[in-house]
Amino acid sequence: MSRCLHITILLLALTVPCLAQPKLTPGTVEEVIKAMTLEEKATLLVGANQGVLYGGSAEAIPYELPASAQMYDNRMGVGGSTYGYPHLGITPIVMADGPAGLRLSVTHIGKEGEYYCTAYPVGTTLASTWNTDLVHRIGVAMGEEARAYGVDVILAPGMNLHRNPLCGRNFEYYSEDPLLAGRMAIAMVGGIQSQNVGTSVKHFAVNSQETNRKDNDDILGTRALRELYLKAFEMVVKEVQPWTVMSSYNRINGPYTQEDPSLLTTILRDEWGFEGIVISDWTAKRNTGAQVHAGNDLMMPGNRDQMQDIVRKVRSGELSEADVDACVRRVLQVILKTNTFLGLKPTDSPDLKAHAALSREVASEGMVLLKNEGRVLPLKDVETVDLYGNTSYRFIAGGTGSGRVNAAYTVSLKDGLSGAGYKMDSHLDHLYSAWLDYQDALREKDSFSILNPAPPVPEMPLEREKIFGNISGDVAIITIGRNAGEATDRKIPSDFDLTAEESQLIRDVCDAYHAAGKKVVVVLNVSGVIETASWKAWPDAILLAWQLGQEGGNAVADALSGKVNPSGKLTMTFPLQYFDHPSSYNFPFNYVGPPSFGPTMSVTGRKEPLVKDVDYTLYEEGIYVGYRYFSSFGKDVSYPFGFGLSYAAFAYSRPSVKVSADGFTATVSVTNTGPVAGKEAVQLYVSAPSGGMEKPSRELKSFAKTRLLQPGESETLSFCVSAYELASFNEAASAWETAAGQYRVLFGASVEDIRCNAPYKLTRALSWPVHRVMEPSQKLDELTQQTK
Ligand code: BGC
Repeated sequence: MSRCLHITILLLALTVPCLAQPKLTPGTVEEVIKAMTLEEKATLLVGANQGVLYGGSAEAIPYELPASAQMYDNRMGVGGSTYGYPHLGITPIVMADGPAGLRLSVTHIGKEGEYYCTAYPVGTTLASTWNTDLVHRIGVAMGEEARAYGVDVILAPGMNLHRNPLCGRNFEYYSEDPLLAGRMAIAMVGGIQSQNVGTSVKHFAVNSQETNRKDNDDILGTRALRELYLKAFEMVVKEVQPWTVMSSYNRINGPYTQEDPSLLTTILRDEWGFEGIVISDWTAKRNTGAQVHAGNDLMMPGNRDQMQDIVRKVRSGELSEADVDACVRRVLQVILKTNTFLGLKPTDSPDLKAHAALSREVASEGMVLLKNEGRVLPLKDVETVDLYGNTSYRFIAGGTGSGRVNAAYTVSLKDGLSGAGYKMDSHLDHLYSAWLDYQDALREKDSFSILNPAPPVPEMPLEREKIFGNISGDVAIITIGRNAGEATDRKIPSDFDLTAEESQLIRDVCDAYHAAGKKVVVVLNVSGVIETASWKAWPDAILLAWQLGQEGGNAVADALSGKVNPSGKLTMTFPLQYFDHPSSYNFPFNYVGPPSFGPTMSVTGRKEPLVKDVDYTLYEEGIYVGYRYFSSFGKDVSYPFGFGLSYAAFAYSRPSVKVSADGFTATVSVTNTGPVAGKEAVQLYVSAPSGGMEKPSRELKSFAKTRLLQPGESETLSFCVSAYELASFNEAASAWETAAGQYRVLFGASVEDIRCNAPYKLTRALSWPVHRVMEPSQKLDELTQQTK
């Protein structure tokens, strides 16, 4: 062969394949899949951020990558990304947490300056607004911020159910009720995705505890599974198609969720019609082949073993390339939608000022007024305030772990009150600053991290006589603080329950100020439910502020001063005591040990489960979670689900229910009979006809909130409920069933405060059969017997 021919052949070999490479467009997905090597496909299904995530440099990780794969340059500390393939026009998907605002580093490598994100109220606070329009607006703002920073998918919302008050991540989640959680998630996902930014609804599914979160087997019947734990996900998928779903760490009735085709394909895709991708929760290494086969499209944050595993298993015939292609196809479909693919350049300058104002507005609507004896609130004739409790001076914006946000600031209650024009006792201010400085100094040598946050500063012991002798304000405000976060569940002593110092502080301050003819307000800046029954009689008012994001102190000041009238209501039950919850006996409340960073984290090299004695959780309570239990069995509570006071008062009238094409439409008129303007969240519960399947005495089926009603003003609220939404899951038939008969539609200010009702008659029973999947391998009651 002549030298010239050699060169021509070589050139052809180099150029022809290049010229033939298709570029990714909506019309070339199949061609691109055909053009990809098996290694390229496998690498696309495995995230690209392991090294960076663990503080190492990306180069330090011995990846054996296809030469064509391009690593995303993670300069702003995003949670994860996929690989890009420039020669095929495939761009990376850039993902960042989380539910209360974006979690990015403050400094971005190679750029001057500091880049902050807005800390919004946590999920529980958002849901407590019962205002889906507001939550939608937060979603829009979060989407705008993500776009401005070049993030394609926000790893939010968190939407697991509050099965038990001690779950360490409840603050990220909405409610103990699936309908409320589902509606909130729909609003949030709709808002974020309106900005062409994707969401990752998480953690799918039954991720109800943090103890041994990466290996725990959650054992439950399919009725509780479908009616409670999957319901909110079903709603959000059917209504707004989140771009991604994040599969949880735990197992359900045996298999890991990430390896379970029944969950990820049969239910999620075949039954609900999910069109996006499933991404695994971070760092749990599973059987990658099984994940791909199950429809877990993306392994995050990814490491080379997973990529090699896919390749090896396809080569050995253990995994079909068609399964790999199905995941690749879905990943490409998501890539096509991203702003990165569409070439939108990050501006790095979101409107943080407007977002802070929105955060404050939503925060002031998410607080729940639990007590207001003698109408002590809003504060009247108050110029000076005596401020007690560490947390008054260091307000907690949100929880720890991946739900944390690097905001520019958090307004403390002290600053919020002073901004509202109140004067504070300087003696107390000095005392608390000295105490907090001293406590900081004590812990300087300790090192804390995102999954190992600093424990709370213990409350300062104040001598009773000193409190009596130092009253200078017109009113006393005490803040009680609690924080929590992923990897650890909360505990009963000194967390669910007050500490001895906190209890003493409330007692002594109330005694002293009441003796002086002055009032006491307790503000709860907490991440979850705490015990209130033992001390709630002492103060005059209790404002459950939750965690309110960066504008917390301002929002509380708005509520205390009356600038805003509280209109939040509880999205979960406050029991008299922890063990009143039936799930308590099957929750690792007494587990003492390391946090659940997880036994399967490859970077630790650990083989054995860290948490040996907590390997499964029986959901013995079945459907009787939260108010479904308390109201059905007539158990007293401290504050019921749906409860929340207002500075106004509301009368309900003219309840009506009309049969519609697929269920009923209900209306009720709400009138503000109070002295000030306010909003009211009305809850629609339904009691089913007796005789059929056992059901809770009432279940939330819809809700609506009025606009700001002036004194004397009325509004008619309407609600649509379909027959499918009335259905319960019949395990024996593996079908959703709505019984025929007479239903009662109840309009309530809370689950225990039903103001009026109307009948609804369904003449024909309805049934929707579904696949018989995910059943526990043994009957739940047999398992229960074995553990007794
Ligand atoms: C959390 C997820 C989070 C992910 C990425 C995991 O530890 O469980 O909720 O999105 O980390 O930060």
